Amino acid sequence: MSATPPSYVARPGARVAGEISVPGDKSISHRAAMLGAIANGITEIQGFLEGADCLATLAAVAALGVRIERPSARHVLIHGAGMRGLRAATTPLDFGNSGTGMRLLAGLLCGQPFDSILIGDASLMRRPMERVAAPLRRMGADIRTHDGQPPLAIAGGRALHGCDHRLELPSAQVKSAILLAGLYANGRTTVREPGLSRDHTEQMLEDFGVAVARQGEALSITGPATPAATRIDVPGDFSSAAFFIVAGLIAGQAPLVIRGVGVNPTRTAALDILRLMGADIRLHPVDSRGSEPVADIEVRPGALRGITVPPELVPIAMDEWPVLFAAAAVAAGETVVSGAGELRVKESDRLAAMAEGLAAVGVAADPLPDGLRVRGGRVAGGEVDCRGDHRIAMAFAVLAARAQSPIVVRGVQNVATSFPGFAATARAAGLQLEEGG
Ligand code: S3P
Repeated sequence: MSATPPSYVARPGARVAGEISVPGDKSISHRAAMLGAIANGITEIQGFLEGADCLATLAAVAALGVRIERPSARHVLIHGAGMRGLRAATTPLDFGNSGTGMRLLAGLLCGQPFDSILIGDASLMRRPMERVAAPLRRMGADIRTHDGQPPLAIAGGRALHGCDHRLELPSAQVKSAILLAGLYANGRTTVREPGLSRDHTEQMLEDFGVAVARQGEALSITGPATPAATRIDVPGDFSSAAFFIVAGLIAGQAPLVIRGVGVNPTRTAALDILRLMGADIRLHPVDSRGSEPVADIEVRPGALRGITVPPELVPIAMDEWPVLFAAAAVAAGETVVSGAGELRVKESDRLAAMAEGLAAVGVAADPLPDGLRVRGGRVAGGEVDCRGDHRIAMAFAVLAARAQSPIVVRGVQNVATSFPGFAATARAAGLQLEEGG
């Protein structure tokens, strides 16, 4: 007999207020583990996200022969093997649910003298991988997909050369895979994106002493280049904070402060969107040791109104759309989002999952080919299948605060990929949330 997948029972009657913090940034934790693995020296990471996704990356790096110490919670020491010190894993590298882990490490593995196989869970095995494989092949890599999807089979021992890449879509994962391969390539590797994507890789390459040239939309590194070990302080993950920003807005009794959150401007478009909807959100900058900006985020409750979202804000709020749709569900009037087709190839088809989930709790939501139209107002309550997607699960847990009756969210086991301890943090913030079998 298989165990029943866990669910949330989220009830109305929340009283959100006070102070909370959220776990470390997922994107930064992945990158610190990977760059630390090939650096010369010991990289010390404070605030590492101990969620399943980043733990899968740590396990992959360990399987490649890198010594890792975890002296205390969220504190990780990576004994860098140097550019030529990794060795072949004896089994396929399993990235679980993590697209970031698989796509970024693929870039790094193309420069190794040995072969690698990269696999993941059922969701990851359905995600598109040619977007990273094709540009890596242009650099001389031998990387195969299975009809465009994992497993990825990388043959080692190929000499990589620098290339000038123009991406069709802005994508931090594709950009990062190319730059990590670029460390092993001879000559200049350039990436040009048609719009903004998160810039943690280029920031962190500089932290590790690798020069990054920026000219207009072009970003270049010159290889081969060896990272030098450093110390990385990982701030709270803005994408995790976003659930509580919305909770504070729609179910606040008093201000809610989320302490120590990374507010890199390539991540915070959700704040601009929520402000256009009428939100009162204030950032109080905090001194941080690292190169990423950090702030305490103060949210004051208030009514939201529906908007047509400006197209330039859509792609850089991509991970926040599930909870932004929850905000739209309680806003007065209609919210229309288009240009968000990438949501169909995330951990789930997030446009379909949100449209279906919103309908199940009594909110009118019409899917568009590349977006969603949500008519905000009354939320009844009901049962939602989050399709194993962490962000869909958390979005409905927050929305329940404004429902007429409880929302039961089924299949929430993957919340721990990005937000271990979400339910406890939700209760600390004042949400009425129980975990059940
Ligand atoms: C990430 C990049 C984003 C984001 C993902 C994490 C990263 O995807 O959706 O959750 O850490 O590089 P894109 O590659 O589409 O930018």
